[in-house]
Amino acid sequence: MHFPATRLRRLRRSPTLRGMVRETRLAVEDLIYPLFCIAGRNQRRPIASMPGICQLSVDQAVLEAGSAWQLGIPAVLLFGIPADKDAVGSSGARPDGVVQRAVAAIKEAWPDLLVITDVCLCEYTDHGHCGVIRGGEVDNDATLELLAAQAVSHARAGADMVAPSDMMDGRVAALRAALDAAGYAQLPIMSYAVKYASAFYGPFREAAESAPRFGDRRSYQMDPANRREAHREAELDVAEGADCLIVKPALAYLDILRDLRRRLDLPLVAYNVSGEFAMLKAAAERGWLDHDQVMLESLTGMKRAGADLIITYHAPEAARLLRTR
Ligand code: PBG
Repeated sequence: MHFPATRLRRLRRSPTLRGMVRETRLAVEDLIYPLFCIAGRNQRRPIASMPGICQLSVDQAVLEAGSAWQLGIPAVLLFGIPADKDAVGSSGARPDGVVQRAVAAIKEAWPDLLVITDVCLCEYTDHGHCGVIRGGEVDNDATLELLAAQAVSHARAGADMVAPSDMMDGRVAALRAALDAAGYAQLPIMSYAVKYASAFYGPFREAAESAPRFGDRRSYQMDPANRREAHREAELDVAEGADCLIVKPALAYLDILRDLRRRLDLPLVAYNVSGEFAMLKAAAERGWLDHDQVMLESLTGMKRAGADLIITYHAPEAARLLRTR
């Protein structure tokens, strides 16, 4: 019996050697940090199910965005929690809306930080659905105009990129046409192309005060059991003019990310969602998992699966660890 000539342990013998043959590198430039913006001044309201994350008034969002920028994080993703909601989410497209004010203030303070805005109706509608309701259903085509108006108002406020998360059919084309017509042909769209109807969004709905009042989102978000349908969603958004695509959630959907990486050449973004964040925080609080190791391992897994960028609430903590290495 011949001892094997190939011994894979030879290249694992020291940290230096392991570093040299490492295939995937997580970098601070990969991270996008989500912020929840509210009205008022000097407000930092903690979100119980997301330890360390707060709803922030615009002045506080500016500070938080600034500390992210100083840690090397290149981009933030803004969500708005308006003071008033109605059936069609009109507060989402107001020039003095909370996201519009936050975009302007952040860009003024940190001009080189990239500001991306989430475009959706669920935070702005009183029923909490991502579109308008007609006959007890979310009306796709009536919603498109409202989303387009919201995207244009974010662009006017100074957003660098818009990220539609509603999952209506045809929204990328509708946003592209509206942005082009308003003079924003250069503004990129980061589409939540593949967004599953996931229970991992639970903590976010507390953070964004956007839980649906009736029913659920399964008539517009994807069935978690479907893989081929993800390709159709992604290809459609590419055809409609999306510049980069999000897969959401991340951890339970790494196969989808991998599939899309093989098929498509545009930048792919993994959304490390609120429930993934909350699970790790809860386990770490009990001393059941090593927080930092599991966080970096999870984020590295998303990159290895094919993500170019990662939207994560861990961005500042991950950035601190990546810097000190
Ligand atoms: C809004 C939106 C949601 C998330 C991002 N944008 C919630 C939802 O669709 O219910 C989830 C983000 C997270 O869980 O971190 N449509």
